[in-house]
Amino acid sequence: MENKRIVIAGGTGFIGQAMARYFGKNNHVVILTRKSVNGHNNRFGQGLLKAPDGYNITYWRWDGKHVEKHWLDDVDGADIVINLAGRSVNCRYNERNRKEVLDSRIDATQAIGQAIRHSRKAPTLWINAASATIYRHAMDKPQEEEHGEISDLKKDNMPWSLLDRLRYGYTKAWAGYRYGKGSKQYKLLDKDFSVEICRSWEQAFMDEHTPATRKVALRAAITLGAGGVMVPYFNLLKAGLGGYQGNGRQMYSWIHEEDLCRIVEWCAEHPEASGMYNCAAPNPVTNSAFMCTLRKATGHRFGLPAFSWMLELGAALIGTETELILKSRWVLPGRLLKAGFRFKYTHAEQAIRDIVTRTPRSRYHLF
Ligand SMILES: NC(=O)c1ccc[n+]([C@@H]2O[C@H](COP(=O)([O-])OP(=O)(O)OC[C@H]3O[C@@H](n4cnc5c(N)ncnc54)[C@H](OP(=O)(O)O)[C@@H]3O)[C@@H](O)[C@H]2O)c1
Repeated sequence: MENKRIVIAGGTGFIGQAMARYFGKNNHVVILTRKSVNGHNNRFGQGLLKAPDGYNITYWRWDGKHVEKHWLDDVDGADIVINLAGRSVNCRYNERNRKEVLDSRIDATQAIGQAIRHSRKAPTLWINAASATIYRHAMDKPQEEEHGEISDLKKDNMPWSLLDRLRYGYTKAWAGYRYGKGSKQYKLLDKDFSVEICRSWEQAFMDEHTPATRKVALRAAITLGAGGVMVPYFNLLKAGLGGYQGNGRQMYSWIHEEDLCRIVEWCAEHPEASGMYNCAAPNPVTNSAFMCTLRKATGHRFGLPAFSWMLELGAALIGTETELILKSRWVLPGRLLKAGFRFKYTHAEQAIRDIVTRTPRSRYHLF
């Protein structure tokens, strides 16, 4: 794809930077960020270093909520607008974080929708990030777009450890005492928060009326690349904890960062593409198989497993949730395969090998 204008809201993050690398050389990439970088051209990477020669990347500051003229001008007439903005879900799901995670996604989606409606020439395509987490915890069969079961939001379809149960009981009792059993805060605790984010985020996207702009939501599986989720995996390997997590039988759907970029390109080149697409490689694996492949590729002969109760303690210490690891995400890219999209990275071995060869050994080995 060449000579297109591609606006990426939240483009400073892991996926946004992968897209900037993928598209930035032959196209004009415009990144919207909350960092103070107004109008900086050809900056690249988390520290906004100067982009390599030949890249064409512009950064504009935005607040993720309101439409402003300086970036609206770039949305106006853009070929693709991609919205990836949102506070990371890698945090403890307390009241404050829940609000931030949810509001940031809905506000950003509404701001982009409004900008598209304010454009004199409507952008051709709007791609919004979504997540494969929207499907239920699946141990029995894979979930595709057409017949897949969207989670019913009940927390009881999630894996539980005893510690997790105790924490839940305590949080609920506290919310009942503080806000009352009829309160919104109390009822929210009965919902699976990660699924609630996915549902409200997709709903906000669908509610935005942009008749002249085609809309696609990418339900992305865990995205593998040089960064993102690989960083904690490499740290685990270094600490000798590269074994399976939980009971290791939960399914692990994944996608290589390059394939996610190729899907964006494919959507742009296929005017019939619209609606929801599962973005996951066609060969998901179990958590145990994934960790085994990772150990092999990085030359670790063994790795200790981390059981659910250990993960619960660890997650409390580092401020995250075990659900991100223990939920069985078994998702297939039914619509993409049917439409003829060819994945470059079809097997986890291939994807992991590619990432490991691009990563210095010191990142995943102590010596
Ligand atoms: N990585 C995955 O495996 C994966 C899988 C499925 C779905 N997704 C979704 O895809 C999107 C991109 O993923 P990612 O891994 O690139 O995430 P990321 O690295 O956390 O990047 C998200 C970007 O959103 C912006 N942001 C953060 N907090 C915000 C807030 N309160 N308001 C507005 N913008 C905010 C940040 O940009 P600035 O600080 O520059 O503004 C950040 O760079 C996310 O929404 C994520 O939920 C990711």
